[in-house]
Amino acid sequence: MSLAMAELFRRLSCGVYVVGVAAGGQRNAFTAAWVMPVSFRPLLLALSINPNHSSYALLQEGRAFSVNVLRADQRELAAWFGGPQQRDKLAAVPWHSGPTGAPLLEDVVARFECLLERECPAGDHVLAIGRVVDGALLQADAVPLAYRDVGNLDGAEALFPDRFS
Ligand SMILES: Cc1cc2nc3c(=O)[nH]c(=O)nc-3n(C[C@H](O)[C@H](O)[C@H](O)COP(=O)(O)O)c2cc1C
Repeated sequence: MSLAMAELFRRLSCGVYVVGVAAGGQRNAFTAAWVMPVSFRPLLLALSINPNHSSYALLQEGRAFSVNVLRADQRELAAWFGGPQQRDKLAAVPWHSGPTGAPLLEDVVARFECLLERECPAGDHVLAIGRVVDGALLQADAVPLAYRDVGNLDGAEALFPDRFS
């Protein structure tokens, strides 16, 4: 367990997002902080996903994902979608399916829809690179939730190594 390493990595500025996936009539969504833009032309976003998440199978099958940008006051939603898929997480919030089929939350700062272009193994995660095919800025004046402000919500302090290798 490494609190020091977690504190260090919190200084890399990340947002907090709800990533939606869908395939074959099934849908799910999970909280993610490791999302970043990686290309202008074409417009690409990269998402780092743990392949053990139940969302990963839906991502691979559905070949699409949405990125819903949470607001600074939506920490509880980050905690809710950060839990496992034992229950229908999406039943708790208003949402609809976008053109790609991935779930889009109604009450968020902004959202993106991506088609999965490729996957790259990245240690204990997989980097999913998606082409942005749609998006909307819904609450232009809202402040997005910052990863460094949610503390140890993702349990990262127990996941970071104690030292560099
Ligand atoms: C603030 C926060 C950030 C997270 N960031 C990521 C992330 O970037 N990538 C990831 O794979 N999981 C991340 N997680 C963990 C998943 O949200 C969590 O394991 C979730 O239960 C997976 O859901 P699923 O099994 O229904 O797919 C994060 C969790 C929280 C609370």
